[in-house]
Amino acid sequence: MEAMKICCIGAGYVGGPTMAMIAHKCSDIEVTVVDLNEARIAAWNSGDLPVYEPGLEEIVSQNREKNLFFSTDVDDKVREADVIFISVNTPTKDYGSGSGQAADLRFVESCARGIARAGGGDKIVVEKSTVPVRTAQMVKEILDSSNNGHSYQVISNPEFLAEGTAMTDLENPDRVLIGGDTSDAGQVAVEKVVSIYAQWVPRERIITTNLWSSELSKLTANAFLAQRISSINAISALCEASEANVDEVAKAIGTDSRIGPKFLKSSIGFGGSCFQKDVLNLCYLCRHFDLPQVAEYWEQVIRMNEYQKERFVTRLLDSMFNTVSGKRIAILGYAFKKDTNDARESPAIGICTRLLEEKANLAIYDPRVTKQSILSTLGWSEESAKGRVEFCTSAEEACQKSHAIALLTEWDEFKELDYTKIYEKMHQPAILFDGRNLLDLEELRKIGYRANGIGRV
Ligand code: UDX
Ligand code: ADP
Repeated sequence: MEAMKICCIGAGYVGGPTMAMIAHKCSDIEVTVVDLNEARIAAWNSGDLPVYEPGLEEIVSQNREKNLFFSTDVDDKVREADVIFISVNTPTKDYGSGSGQAADLRFVESCARGIARAGGGDKIVVEKSTVPVRTAQMVKEILDSSNNGHSYQVISNPEFLAEGTAMTDLENPDRVLIGGDTSDAGQVAVEKVVSIYAQWVPRERIITTNLWSSELSKLTANAFLAQRISSINAISALCEASEANVDEVAKAIGTDSRIGPKFLKSSIGFGGSCFQKDVLNLCYLCRHFDLPQVAEYWEQVIRMNEYQKERFVTRLLDSMFNTVSGKRIAILGYAFKKDTNDARESPAIGICTRLLEEKANLAIYDPRVTKQSILSTLGWSEESAKGRVEFCTSAEEACQKSHAIALLTEWDEFKELDYTKIYEKMHQPAILFDGRNLLDLEELRKIGYRANGIGRV
């Protein structure tokens, strides 16, 4: 029997790492990741990968050109494949009907049309991207309407990896979810996709469902996770007003096995390309199905997240005599979480934008996020940033002569800094705002800082 060929459309944060793991674990499968973006593919084929994930580089370099390939030859690779994963971006729509809430499915649609056009025999098409429930219907209609004589099975296989821990999540997932049509042909396709993961994931962790349950489970999982963060962040505001300590409250409630300890870290709010997008998408779907009360319930998760970011800025302004105009503020961390170079929807974007509006000068340091990524997410050019935003190569450099430090990402290296030395080189009174509840504020106060943390008094 000929080896199975997989083609993944989309070489991003999900497609790249996921396919690298499949190739790594299944030496009998040939995996090709394709993308229209030539620079991105060139980077995947180089020593400087476009995605930073601990452990990714090793796995890519071990398998590349053996059974893992990166190519811009989308049509040919699609034509040759037995199984095609669609792993393209599905951002929130920013135009027309559903703007600001619905998922923009034009990239998924264009993949479906491309697959139908490419022909090349019967195929299994797997939705890897997070999509609204019933998207598989659209994909199937497009594929079937091509009338090219081939038959297509559409499978939903959402990805649950979190950035920063993608490789361990992929290697040892809590579960793999595979949804398919309940027909016999649909079940055969489900089993074929199961057989890929079963090469390294215990069978009992591979859950199979119908298509719609699988699509909706991904949105629901992200909505529940985001809701936990908004819940603890709401409590953090109450802690500040009542002299309770939110970390102590989180620990106390997290020991209840029904609640559990994870995702209870109060912060400046959640970021990343998934949580906000998926909760908004869920709200849009609820309204589409005429369930306004359900939509309003979930909308509050987003409102609380916005409130938390603004609360951080207000707190910072309050502690700095209500003005930051002309003051240098060190921004430690710009990524939406540690161990990633991804700044999409990072809370740092809104916070830095507000501080720039208040005429602060920013000295930004992040170990992985590039200057280009910071400028583009802020909507500033290199020219307009001159004199207002400085890009630093170390935390110490950013903090030097600053009036305040805003710690926005929980990178491990920020825990290790010598804050006593840093303090001596800052403007006095030196303030440290810990948006991630990472540091021991009592210790910092002993050094002399007017330390302040979201969720701490
Ligand atoms: C998330 C889901 O975890 C993952 O399963 C899904 O596939 C994609 O979306 P990701 O966005 O990569 O993953 O990272 P995650 O670890 O979930 O963090 C999201 C945001 O929540 C980050 O900004 C993080 O700092 C914040 N967060 C997380 C908190 O503020 N507190 C917490 O306790 C946990
Ligand atoms: P994610 O975080 O979901 O992986 P990314 O934005 O990082 O999303 O990656 C999605 C990738 O999909 C991008 O590199 C983009 O160029 C690619 N892409 C989008 N549409 C198509 C398409 N029709 N054909 C090939 N690649 C596509």
